[in-house]
Amino acid sequence: MVFIDACFRKKTPYTPIWMMRQAGRYLPEYMQVRNKAGDFLTLCKNPQMAAEVTLQPVEILDVDAAILFSDILVIPLEMGMELRFEKGEGPVFNRPVQNWKDLDSLYEFPEERLGYVYETIKIVREKLPKDKALIGFSGAPWTLATYMVEGRGSKTYATIKKLIYTQPDFMHALMIKITEAIKAYLIKQIEAGVNAVQIFDSWASALEKEKFFEFSWEYLVDIAEFIKERYPGIPVILFPKGIAGYLDDIYGTFDVFGVDWGTPIDLAKAKLGSRYVLQGNMEPTRLYSKEATKEGVEKIIATMGAKPGHIFNLGHGMLPDLPVENAKYLVELVHDLSRR
Ligand code: CP3
Repeated sequence: MVFIDACFRKKTPYTPIWMMRQAGRYLPEYMQVRNKAGDFLTLCKNPQMAAEVTLQPVEILDVDAAILFSDILVIPLEMGMELRFEKGEGPVFNRPVQNWKDLDSLYEFPEERLGYVYETIKIVREKLPKDKALIGFSGAPWTLATYMVEGRGSKTYATIKKLIYTQPDFMHALMIKITEAIKAYLIKQIEAGVNAVQIFDSWASALEKEKFFEFSWEYLVDIAEFIKERYPGIPVILFPKGIAGYLDDIYGTFDVFGVDWGTPIDLAKAKLGSRYVLQGNMEPTRLYSKEATKEGVEKIIATMGAKPGHIFNLGHGMLPDLPVENAKYLVELVHDLSRR
């Protein structure tokens, strides 16, 4: 698989590409299946339908990897937290976790209740062409904790950050509980058939440097090293979003560092490129214009394309109203310009 070879810095005939949020609302084929399911969470819990939408971007766009269709919030959901997706607002937990009593009430082994995810993986891996990789994923402990404590997406992270500075012991206890669940969950995804795993730390940028390493990165590396010890052949990709200023201090055993659009790719290359394969990082909004897409691809390939060690991706997720045609154009362009 070209994607897996690239994760291990092997020579590949071209730079592989996939896109964060490549399955989703910009695809009419996705909307059809989602409407049939009724709502997003029902779709996540239906292995046949979830497998179908996982496969769509591979068939439609010819990306080099599929990413499991699910959500990072299924872990708190299966820890017993009631979850709904509000139109226009995103995910909402009715009863957030904000004290020791709330923490104690969480079910410890959500991975045991996530059978529908492993079932989806088995179906996808059977139907996916042999040369295409299937990526499993989880949210990072910190990013999951932000939703669990705030109860919803937040602009300020005021509640969880207050807990970091006033009740660090409580926060570490919460992080440990989430971390252990993620380890078990990712191992089960690997056993079900995923070829790589990515951990999304979408809200890493909410923390000052010292607290980022204490409350986020340390737990991410713990998970990555747990997986690498057990499954060295499975690439581990870490994506901490918005921490360009902290790159000098990045450490740990993992394979691929996901570069977000706010981190210049040449900076990431200089600071991390010799230790980690880099994935990224075109600004997703460029996809609204073919010219802007071409300019973005040319610059990234010029910086990263000459040697092994790069996987093309966007610097964050696809937007819901992107023209599908431009996404197809992006994949063709990356394959063409990087072919050697
Ligand atoms: O990337 C993929 O194609 C695989 C599936 C995937 C989804 N969410 C599907 C989804 C993945 C990998 C995720 C990860 C995820 N979910 C993250 C981390 C990545 C990132 O974007 O930073 C986060 C923070 C979430 C939490 C989440 N889920 C939010 C904030 C929302 C609402 C956002 C919105 O656009 O309304 C979701 C819902 C969600 N997850 C959708 C999809 C396709 C939209 C659901 C729909 O309306 O059909």
